[in-house]
Order: sequence, then structure tokens, then C-alpha cells
Amino acid sequence: MCGIVGYVGPQNALDVVLEGLRRLEYRGYDSAGVAVLAEGQLSSAKKAGKVANLEKELAEQALPPATIGIGHTRWATHGGPTDRNAHPHLSADGTVAVIHNGIIENFAVLRAEIEATGVEFASETDTEVVAHLLAAVYPTLPEGEGRLAEAMRQVSRRLEGAFTLVASHAAEPDTLVASRRNSPLVAGVGDGEYFLGSDVAAFIGHTRNALELGQDQVVEIDRTRGVTVTDFAGNRVEPTAYTVDWEAEAAGKAGYDWFMLKEIDEQPQAVADTLLGRLGNRGEIVLDEVRISDEDLRGVTKIFVIACGTAYHAGLIAKYAIEHWTRIPVEVELASEFRYRDPVLDRSTLVVVISQSGETMDTLMALRHAKEQQARVLAICNANGSTIPRESDAVLYTRAGPEVAVASTKGFLTQVVACYLVGLFLAQVRGLKYEDEVAAVVRDLRRLPDQVREVLAGMDEVRELGRSLATESTILFLGRHVGYPVALEGALKLKELAYIHAEGFAAGELKHGSIALIGEGTPVIVVAPSPHGRESLHGKVVSNIQEVRARGARTIVIAEEGDDDVLPYADHVVRVPRTPTLLAPVVTTVPLQILACEIADTRGLDVDMPRNLAKSVTVE
Ligand code: F6R
Repeated sequence: MCGIVGYVGPQNALDVVLEGLRRLEYRGYDSAGVAVLAEGQLSSAKKAGKVANLEKELAEQALPPATIGIGHTRWATHGGPTDRNAHPHLSADGTVAVIHNGIIENFAVLRAEIEATGVEFASETDTEVVAHLLAAVYPTLPEGEGRLAEAMRQVSRRLEGAFTLVASHAAEPDTLVASRRNSPLVAGVGDGEYFLGSDVAAFIGHTRNALELGQDQVVEIDRTRGVTVTDFAGNRVEPTAYTVDWEAEAAGKAGYDWFMLKEIDEQPQAVADTLLGRLGNRGEIVLDEVRISDEDLRGVTKIFVIACGTAYHAGLIAKYAIEHWTRIPVEVELASEFRYRDPVLDRSTLVVVISQSGETMDTLMALRHAKEQQARVLAICNANGSTIPRESDAVLYTRAGPEVAVASTKGFLTQVVACYLVGLFLAQVRGLKYEDEVAAVVRDLRRLPDQVREVLAGMDEVRELGRSLATESTILFLGRHVGYPVALEGALKLKELAYIHAEGFAAGELKHGSIALIGEGTPVIVVAPSPHGRESLHGKVVSNIQEVRARGARTIVIAEEGDDDVLPYADHVVRVPRTPTLLAPVVTTVPLQILACEIADTRGLDVDMPRNLAKSVTVE
């Protein structure tokens, strides 16, 4: 996830672009860069680190004044967060500058093709191929209006993956062109000036008039001709205009009251990004980045999953899935406990460490301990280039984009999805009888982004419910099977955000003691499994709901669409779409995130920065 800004108009382009970058910095802060076009010449500056670093650089090495420019703030994917890999990327002949958000999956093939023509690459990024391709295509097109746009269409048709691209050409002093597939892009229309942005935060300081751009479209903004949108084939498209109704001050949060709410809403895209390029056309899992040999993976006799807090809950879900698909025993362990109890592991042990930040000290120390015992370590991580992936043998990035709110939401959902990918990949490499199942699960995985979207669309009742629970002093969460870690996660979210006593239980365990906590009106939130999964599992949870209801609990049940068995015992039902049991946490967790957020907000608390906590815990 990166931030993109483009500007054409009468103002100083650099000022406008830098202002946009500052507002978009929440989208990535590995590096930042700008390019402006003046007197037929593209000039650029780029720097690793935050936008402030770039500004320092610009203070020392000024760019010429210009009224057309592009800017980028990066969340690294291909190529580390260095000056060289920062955007914009220029073509070898200096005629084209490009910025990009997303991943170009077929970049290796394209790069080889371009290198064969004698072009030398200046970076390790996938983006650079686009600069060279545009520079090669442009001279082959007839002169005149729309030449750069046509070049962009031709190049876009060759790209696979997800991208928002913005390009400037030295021969077109009045025009910027952008292209979009599976990655966000909006245009802004001011008074004689035009903007492009990853979101409206990029230009909210200048105009509230925005144009929504659709999938597989190319947009041209031109000083005199205004905005022209086409599909990749060149057919004209009428973009949808809308007015932004939030203030510039809310820009970093894209109009949301809290970063957490924004990040909850980003989950469909985040899950799609985690899956991007990793599900093959033949129903196989493609994890080229897992650089542990197939032979070693076939020799794995035991898996440890190690993590803290929310990431640990993702690990608990992983155990159910990985053991089911691979029949390899999986132990899930809190990182802070792991190395102090002399765990049994050796070269045939695969250790999966899960960390959103990649900097959590407990997890890092556990990783180092595992490596000392010769185990192989695979990291599931969100922050590119952070310490945990650097010290691991292999890494699977979750690509959730920056998570600013202290409470992890999209970080968690994407960790769960990454764990599924690891489990299925292992099953595939080991050639297990579950191969057909891999293909079936791949089909189900593809549906997850839309299913999360569906859950998010129906959350008004959950918000109302949250407001009604804001004065409670204890709330309990129950679940069985993968619903149990979801219950733990729901309770953790509530504790950390709303400071309400909350506990998650395995539903069957309650009767062994904790049921004594339930009195008249105690809210109990139950994560019900699918009635279409293992029958006894669903039936048992329905019995558990009855048990707590009989003791006076106010029951709130997260249940699948059409599950009527829970109705007689539920005071409130929150519906989620039908999902196979193992994948259900991706949908059932979402209402619990919203509930915790709403309760905390109603209590007047700071949702993004709860007391006593930090986003990245770098002490043991
Ligand atoms: C809770 C939360 C924490 C983190 C934990 C591990 O919402 O965010 O429990 O999950 O501190 O952090 P990472 O994943 O960065 O290692």
C-alpha cells in the first residue's frame, strides 16, 4: 500500500504534491519521492524514510519551479526501502517518470524482456518495468492528443496483478496519465486544476470535487482538456462524480473518526492483497517467497507457531487449519513463554513466527532461540524489511498496509489468511491426499474479500448493540473449534479498547467452573460455527447458548445466514455469510472488532491509542 499524488494546474506543483504526500503518509513511510516537469525536462528527488527526509533533501537540492508534478510515499513490496527503490522511477532515456501502488506479478518476465533490449535497471522494483515500457511504446504512437494515455493503455494491458500507476512524459507538459486495476485511484477537479490521488486526502486541501474511477480504467488529466477516462481498450467512460463531505483535518483518517474504523473497512482489500498472486489458476498455492526447499518442507515433523497477543490468536486458528490439511502436529505458543520452558525442536521443526510490526521483542527473542536450535523459521509479517523477517529463513508478507491504530484489525485478518496459505502450501508440497481439498479451499479463499465486505455492509445493528453494552462491567465471549480463538480475540479487543473486563472461553469449558460468573443479564457473546460444517460442533454450541441463557445471560450470537437453530436462545443475532468452518474466523471476527470500537467510542475513550499500550512492543 503506497500513497500517490499527481497535480496539473497553475500552482507550484511541488508544494501541492508535498502537501498531498504529508496527508497520505499513513499509507506508507518507507520512502518518498517526487518528480516535476519543467522546460521539457523531468527532474526528481527521492529518499528512504518519511516525507520529512525528502523535504530535507529538497531543501538542499531544489527542483526547478513547475506546475505539473507527481509524488509517492512508499510501503515497500518488491525491493527494500532504499533511496534507489523509492519512486518515481524514470525510464533509461529520462523521458518518463512513473509512480506505482500495487504489485506487478509478471514483472520478472517483463524485466527480462526489457533487459534483453540492452536497458539497464536502476532499481529492484517491479515498477521500473512500466517506465521502460512506456518509453518504448510512446515513440511508436502517432503524435497528438492522448498519446501518453494510449501508451498507458497499451502497457496496462500487458500487466498482471494490482496497480495504480501515474506517469508523466517529458513531451507532454500539460498532461498526467493514470491507470488502475485492483488498487485505489481518484481524480480531483478544482478551478482550472486537476489532481490524482490514492484517496481524496491527496487533494482535500484544494477541492472537494472528486471523480470515482473504475476497474481497468485509464484517466488523463490535462490543463486545457480536463479529465478524460477510458477503459483499457480506449472506449470512453463517464466517471461518477461526488463531493467529499469531510474536513481536511480528517485527511489522514480519510474521513473516519478513528484510524481503527478505517482499517476495519480496509479489510476486504487487505485480504485480497494477501491473496494476490498466491492463488494459481489451477487451484494451487503459489508461494515463491517461501525460500525453504521443498525437500526441507517435506521433512518437517513438527510446527511451532509463535506470536503475541492478537497475532497469537491468529496462530491458534492456524493450528486447526494446518493440522487438518497437513497432519503435521502444530504447537502454538506465546512468544514470551516459548524460550523459557526449554521447548523441544530441531532441524526438522518449522517455526512460524507471526508479527504485524515485525519488531515485537518477545517474538524476536523466540525466533532467535528457535534458530539456535537449528529450526527453520518462516515469518508471517506485515512491515516490510523489519527485524523479524530479516532474521527469518523466509517471509510471507501479509500486505495489509500500515496499521496505525494500536488495536490490530486488518493485521489480524491478513495473518489468519497468510496462515491458511502456509497450511495449504505445505499440504501441496508434501503431496498429501488433501490435494483436491486444496483446490476447493482456494475457491473459498477467493470469496473471502467479498464476504468481509458483506459483513461490513450490515454493521449498523452491531453499532447500536455496542452502544447498549457500553455501561456493562463484564462481557464474556464463547466459541468452539476456530470460534474459540475468535472469542479470545473479541475479548482482547474489548479489554484493550473499552477497559471492560472481558474473557474468552472455549464454549465447552465454561461448565467446568467459569459458568459461575454468569448472573442475571450478563452479556455473553457466542461465536456459532456453521451448521453446514461438522454437525455435532454446531449442535454443541447451540446447547452451550441454552446453558448460559438458562442462567440469566443476555445472549448475542454471531451466526451464519440461515442458521435458525440459534434463534430460540439468542437475544440478538448478528449474521455473517456462509463460510466453511476453517475459514469462518475471517468473517466472524469483524463484528467483534466493530463492537469493541463502538463500545470504546461510546465510553468516550481514545480508540486509536488506548491507555498503557504501544503499537510495537519492543521490550521483553
Ligand atoms: C492487540 C494487538 C497486540 C499485538 C501484539 C503483537 O490488538 O495489536 O496484541 O497483536 O502486541 O504485535 P505484532 O503482531 O506486531 O508482533
